[in-house]
Amino acid sequence: MCGIVGYVGHGPAGSRPLDVVLEGLARLEYRGYDSAGVAVAGPEGMSAVKRAGRLDNLRAALAHSPLPPGTAAIGHTRWATHGGPTDENAHPHVSFDGAVAVVHNGIIENYPELALELDRRGIFRRSETDTEIAAHHLALEYAKDGNLLAAMCRLASRLQGSFTLVGMAGDSEVVAARRNSPLVVGLGEGENFLGSDVAAFVGSTSDALELGQDTAVSITADEVTVVDFEGRPAEGKRFEVNWDLSAAVKDGYETFMDKEIHEQPKAVAETLRGRTSLDGRLHLDELRIDESVLRSVDKIIVVACGTAAYAGHVAKYAIEHWCRVPVEVELAHEFRYRDPVVNEKTLVVAISQSGETMDTLMAIRHAREQGSKVLAIVNTHGSTIARESDAVLYTHAGPEVAVASTKAFIAQITACYLLGLYLSELRGNKYVDEVATYLDELGKMPSRIEEVLAEEEQVRTLARSMADVTSVLFLGRHVGFPVALEGALKLKELAYIHAEGFAAGELKHGPIALIEEGLPVFVIVPTPRRPLLHSKVISNLQEVKARGARVIVIAEEGDEEAASYATRVFWVPRSTPTLMMPLVTVVPLQIFACELASVKGYDVDKPRNLAKSVTVE
Ligand code: F6R
Repeated sequence: MCGIVGYVGHGPAGSRPLDVVLEGLARLEYRGYDSAGVAVAGPEGMSAVKRAGRLDNLRAALAHSPLPPGTAAIGHTRWATHGGPTDENAHPHVSFDGAVAVVHNGIIENYPELALELDRRGIFRRSETDTEIAAHHLALEYAKDGNLLAAMCRLASRLQGSFTLVGMAGDSEVVAARRNSPLVVGLGEGENFLGSDVAAFVGSTSDALELGQDTAVSITADEVTVVDFEGRPAEGKRFEVNWDLSAAVKDGYETFMDKEIHEQPKAVAETLRGRTSLDGRLHLDELRIDESVLRSVDKIIVVACGTAAYAGHVAKYAIEHWCRVPVEVELAHEFRYRDPVVNEKTLVVAISQSGETMDTLMAIRHAREQGSKVLAIVNTHGSTIARESDAVLYTHAGPEVAVASTKAFIAQITACYLLGLYLSELRGNKYVDEVATYLDELGKMPSRIEEVLAEEEQVRTLARSMADVTSVLFLGRHVGFPVALEGALKLKELAYIHAEGFAAGELKHGPIALIEEGLPVFVIVPTPRRPLLHSKVISNLQEVKARGARVIVIAEEGDEEAASYATRVFWVPRSTPTLMMPLVTVVPLQIFACELASVKGYDVDKPRNLAKSVTVE
């Protein structure tokens, strides 16, 4: 939530700082788009411009009144917490004396007490934000000794809550401090960068530094200095950015979401790459948790939020079947507040695309405090969750730009399958013989997803004909249940339509009362090769059909029985193992939501009120 960019380069002063920051903000806009702003420092001093609304509003303001040339700049794209999305509340905030400009991501919890101090000094505030308070305090600290990094450390050690705070006072240095919010440094030649994530500077450098908890950093054109909040030298961890600029362009697609839906076969293939071999064995060398610990685990708890939690739901079915170990799936924000039973025999699996979701981060900290090992399934290198877990299994989906998750979901499920099969092999349980077969089937999933994508026009046509629906239900059983939940979430967040996902068997316990003539109901039907499961869903189909619902079925190719109850059918390839069906059945639902939102004229990539990386609890 909130995107931050910082830049310092060598003179002579020019437009590069502003260009770098605006390009970085464009790539970080998925983190929040309530307002945007920049401050540039150069020989003529420091100037700032900020505007409510999308980055385009800021660009228009800059075109109207250009900023003077500079050598340093900071920028911000906001997801509003304290104070509404107005020009006034937009960042950067410039201090009362004009000495420093500050941008911030997070929430400063003790701002009332800090605000009171400013009131006592007669320092007037112009906005409703906690950030402005930080800007005034940074200026007060800076006035003491003219050392911006030391001033930032003194201020940071007084702050409570979560923050990445970036400050600039002159044209040769930008400083920052972080606690519980993301910040990475980009190391360039004669220039250095700061960003909420590597997207801020991808294209300018692939050499990056991740920063630990409670650290502050100063960048100049040639130097990067990392310290703790006491000012003692600290180390960052160098890593190479393996994302490139191609992720930042739509590549001929209408939207990033469209592009990312089509990248799903690749996301699966990349997540599998190098981890399976021809001998049918698994190589998860990055699982740095002692094998004896993994063997002795008697419970797995998956913690995650939103779409990532639905990936966890799918994982539960697969891991319990393959490993015969109980798996609980818990929304990360509920986990630590209910005194969960976790100990050193529990393996906590945290799933997160961004690796920055605060709810998930807090859950893993709680789990580790109780002695559990935490394995993270994360898409973003250098992210906080990756850094704070005992081991990381990266999903190699590539950067996901659209706010609504698609390819990351598919990659998360793939990584969970790998984990389940690995644990099955390691623990040698009764299904161990199936591992090689399942790995082989996993390898076929990219082409099966391609097959579903090839039929996308049919789904789009249906979506276009349903632009006026006001409510849609999704039903599924077994692994179809989390897919139903995901289908409903995609529709809610993109098309702003009331949508609910249910376990198909639950229908008769209440939700069936919602069914009325013409109500669209999507039903995810399991393969007829599992007759017991299949017949139950066929009964559910009959129940909704009998009450006049408009039934849209996602079923295995050739399942004529399911088709006979449907108004529309979308096929998924025959012979996909039941446990792997979500990788194909979710695709039509993603396309449906994407197209329906486009038809309604909504911004598919940036749905209202949302941000991609939710870094507040
Ligand atoms: C929905 C969506 C969200 C995220 C959730 C967790 O399309 O994207 O529900 O899945 O906010 O985010 P990560 O995976 O970054 O922890």
